[in-house]
Amino acid sequence: MEIAPDTLTPRDMHKLLIGSIVPRPIAWISTIGANGTTNLAPFSFFNGVSSNPPLLSVSFSYNPDSADHKKDTLRNIEATGEFVVNVVREPDERIMHDTSGAFEASESEIERFGLTAGPSVTVRPPRVLESPIQFECSLERSLPLGEGPGSSTLVLGRIRHIHVDDTLIDDGNHIDAAALKPIGRLAGNSYCYVHEIFDLGPRPR
Ligand SMILES: Cc1cc2nc3c(=O)[nH]c(=O)nc-3n(C[C@H](O)[C@H](O)[C@H](O)COP(=O)(O)O)c2cc1C
Repeated sequence: MEIAPDTLTPRDMHKLLIGSIVPRPIAWISTIGANGTTNLAPFSFFNGVSSNPPLLSVSFSYNPDSADHKKDTLRNIEATGEFVVNVVREPDERIMHDTSGAFEASESEIERFGLTAGPSVTVRPPRVLESPIQFECSLERSLPLGEGPGSSTLVLGRIRHIHVDDTLIDDGNHIDAAALKPIGRLAGNSYCYVHEIFDLGPRPR
């Protein structure tokens, strides 16, 4: 099948993207709202983008259900300039999925789902202690992309502090992926585990 993007509705374009770019890592993002409530939600249009400066990216889609068309997480990041990316691991896939519900901005998903908030070192939003790796971030840039349904805001976060479970990292800063047990996002409500890892040896020079 040959597909020209401009023949697709935003919804169909979205389906093609989330079905083709798989598996995606998941940023479980904790923020604090203007009223002081903590917020937690998962985002899989997420990646690392630079090591120096240390930056990661998250893309927030247009929210038809709020007056400013922003998700609570994006609104909080823009208002406070701070967020924490918590890596999701087994066995927290079910809770992570459930924290994606559209809860009132005044309700904390961390409390609702019985997760443990821990103090961060460089930012105000708490980290989720069930997560084995947490990146404390400040807002580097917020870039609106398009308008209306299908549009997004791309956020670049500057990593200010990193917490890593001691059992997952060696003296050379290698993370043990098998022990990490991360969750990958596929399309719709599908996910994958990282249960089969293989090495291909040195790359050709
Ligand atoms: C695994 C997973 C990944 C998601 N990825 C994204 C994403 O990358 N961008 C986005 O805007 N919404 C994404 N969502 C939907 C948000 O989690 C959902 O809209 C949530 O209610 C936002 O919460 P908030 O309003 O508290 O920020 C994802 C949902 C799930 C379950």
